[in-house]
Amino acid sequence: MSLASVARTFSLLALCATAVPAIAQTGDATKGKTVFARCALCHDVKPGPKKMGPNLAGIFGRTSGTAAGFAYSPAMQKAKIRWDVKSMDSFITKPSALVPGTKMAFPGIPNPADRANLLAYLKAEAK
Ligand code: HEC
Repeated sequence: MSLASVARTFSLLALCATAVPAIAQTGDATKGKTVFARCALCHDVKPGPKKMGPNLAGIFGRTSGTAAGFAYSPAMQKAKIRWDVKSMDSFITKPSALVPGTKMAFPGIPNPADRANLLAYLKAEAK
């Protein structure tokens, strides 16, 4: 490997390292609260009685379909997604694309900036 290609590899690695967490960091949690209004009919971020959808408190790090006392679709239970910023971003883009057969009746949020803000809000609040 030439010195130039080593340098190229390293700068690429550096690019990747900064690009991955960018989703969570560029989001604005205050704006994300407004975006969450679209979810709030069915979800809470703080522990409490379940609504039409499962409670999202502690969602990050949890496996999909495992909140106690909620009747998930077989699709969500089988999906076994580990919820992190990346998987959640993908789910929220178009729920039925990531989990075909999900009973979450929500078309998705196509706008990446809205999703980044929403994720910043969820990261900060859904504990
Ligand atoms: C009309 C009600 C409704 C709306 C609006 C809605 N959801 Fe859902 N959500 C559900 C239901 C129902 C499920 C369970 C899906 C299943 O079992 O297939 C779910 C599941 C989820 C899950 C998986 C939870 C788990 O425990 O695995 C996440 C994450 C989620 N929703 C996030 C959101 C976010 C973020 C929004 C707003 C952008 C949103 N939802 C909007 C009803 C809704």
